[in-house]
Parts: sequence; C-alpha cells; structure tokens
Amino acid sequence: MKTLMLYHSKQGHTKTCIDYLNNRTDDTCVVPVQDFTASLDEYDSVIIGTPVYMGNIHKMIKTFIQQHEQTLLQKSLTIVVCAMNDSEYEAMIQRNFTESIRNHARIVHAGGGYNFKRLNFLERFIVKKIAKVDSSISSIKYDQLDSISM
Ligand SMILES: Cc1cc2nc3c(=O)[nH]c(=O)nc-3n(C[C@H](O)[C@H](O)[C@H](O)COP(=O)(O)O)c2cc1C
Repeated sequence: MKTLMLYHSKQGHTKTCIDYLNNRTDDTCVVPVQDFTASLDEYDSVIIGTPVYMGNIHKMIKTFIQQHEQTLLQKSLTIVVCAMNDSEYEAMIQRNFTESIRNHARIVHAGGGYNFKRLNFLERFIVKKIAKVDSSISSIKYDQLDSISM
C-alpha cells in the first residue's frame, strides 16, 4: 500500500514523528505540505503531521485538509498531532477538524516538545509563562506512534 506522509514542523518535533513512522515502512513518500504538488490519487493511505500553536493546527495543513476532504475520506487517513497541552487537547481536536474527518481519521496525540533554538523572543516568553518550561525538552509519545498500523 503506497503511503503519502505530509507534514509541517516549526521546531522539528512533528518532523521527528513523521521520520520515525517513515522508518517503519518502505513504500512511502514524505513531503512538507507546502511542497506537495502531486495527486492524492497515487496513494492508498495518507498520514498528515501537524503541530499545534495557540490552539490551532498549522494553517497550511488545515487548508490542505479542507481542500481535499472528500478525497481524504476515501483513503486510510492518520493525523499525527504534536501538541503539549493535554487538558485542552480534546477541545482543540473538536475545533480544528470537521466531524467527518474526526469520525474517519485515526487522530494520534504524539506529544511534542519545545526547542528554544527555534523560538523567537515572544514565543519563548509564552512558553515560559504559560507552559512553565524554561529550556528545550522533547516528550514525543513514541508508544502512540507505535500504535499506528501501517
Ligand atoms: C508559542 C507556542 C504556542 C503553543 N501553543 C500550543 C497550544 O495552544 N496547544 C498545545 O497543545 N501546544 C502548544 N504548543 C506546543 C507545541 O504544539 C509543541 O511545541 C510542538 O512540539 C510543536 O511542533 P513542532 O516541533 O513540529 O513545531 C505551543 C508551543 C509554542 C512554542
């Protein structure tokens, strides 16, 4: 089964998740969402990786899913979500994905992390203030990634 993996990643954790999944299987094509120009028709299965910032999945990922929703509903679809706020997770999923996508896709909470080298001053301030984290950490939920059947 040919699998397409699309993602966006600012600090690198979503990309780490996608690379981890890519290493588990052979017939895959991994593309940053902004570079995807092929047709979804070529793939039986699609895995989409997105980070969450300020309560929202990445805009390009949201647009891609909106534009291709009917096609994606015909395929095996997994969405890997990097998000660090566990208490807001369910509400965020409800807000960011349509009911059809929520019912059809396997949506996996992959954890994530903070990479201070890739954050600007304001972003670091927000992380320190809200998440109470003051240096880089990684807490990817590899058990969740392992539970994805490929
Ligand atoms: C400025 C900022 C805002 C964030 N806002 C949220 C949020 O609203 N909800 C959440 O669950 N995680 C939030 N996070 C945590 C990110 O989802 C986490 O850093 C994730 O690993 C980002 O993925 P990436 O490394 O692929 O960019 C935020 C992180 C930063 C730096």
